[in-house]
Amino acid sequence: MTSVNDIRSSFLGYFEKNGHEQVASSPLVPRNDPTLMFTNAGMVQFKNVFTGVEKRDYVRATTSQKCVRAGGKHNDLDNVGFTARHHTFFEMLGNFSFGDYFKEHAIELAWNLLTKEWGLPKAKLTATIYQDDDEAFELWKKIAGLPEDRIVRLGAKSNFWQMGDTGPCGPCSEIFYDHGEKYWGGPPGSPEEDGDRFVEIWNLVFMQYEQFADGSRTKLPKPSVDTGSGLERVAAVMQGTNNNYEIDLFRSLVGSTMQATGFNGDPTTPSLRVISDHVRAMSFLIAEGVLPSNEGRGYVLRRIMRRAMRHATLLGAT
Ligand code: GLY
Repeated sequence: MTSVNDIRSSFLGYFEKNGHEQVASSPLVPRNDPTLMFTNAGMVQFKNVFTGVEKRDYVRATTSQKCVRAGGKHNDLDNVGFTARHHTFFEMLGNFSFGDYFKEHAIELAWNLLTKEWGLPKAKLTATIYQDDDEAFELWKKIAGLPEDRIVRLGAKSNFWQMGDTGPCGPCSEIFYDHGEKYWGGPPGSPEEDGDRFVEIWNLVFMQYEQFADGSRTKLPKPSVDTGSGLERVAAVMQGTNNNYEIDLFRSLVGSTMQATGFNGDPTTPSLRVISDHVRAMSFLIAEGVLPSNEGRGYVLRRIMRRAMRHATLLGAT
């Protein structure tokens, strides 16, 4: 079995081999952005590099970024435990180009890692693009040889990425993995898209604009690339399950949760998954100095802790 740790190393190593600087994850509490409650994507630490305010001595980077999505624009809290793929805390793998390569090489790099290095079957992969991005459409045909019906055009709601109300943004192209017909769900853009059969495993953002609070948008100094691929979702694919809670990392957390609560029933019980997820967010947030409180970040932590405790009670823990 390919462990979560193997997949992380393989991703970072592949991008390093392709000229990217391996950069450490930044903290969950962003140091460079008072508008953001938690780091919610790999690009957060590079926000000022995209806008040209900050210069680094590299133009390509790769990271495995600690993320929390439990407050603000990207908030998955209520789904957690009840879908196969949502988390409050997760690791996001990413590769970044700061005015270096753009759409074509971003697609090439992603496609080659998925299909050549990791050996995922092309027949299982579908791409989405921003509705009028004909260039991306042609590139998916040329590079991946995807048939036209597996390059799905979608609107801004799903295929225009913004980190928050302000900041770098741009149209995006997502890659979905089909876990097979034994699971309920349909391809992106279909009425059943929210099911757990087709899961987004990678988002390639073609960063071109900076969004301001008054609604205006300017062009970035140079077109850039920001990508995000959920480590736990990729691990599910590589470990032959459609459910993130069945990967090596979560099997061990679910086991510990059963021990701690004294619950000996079905290990797929949602409450076990809620606690296993929330304990990661709680631990990493507290390790960074966030404490439960009545407002701001501390309040989000308190809600996560309260939700975990409620589910422990449901399992019979006192
Ligand atoms: N920044 C790309 C993503 O989070 O999906």
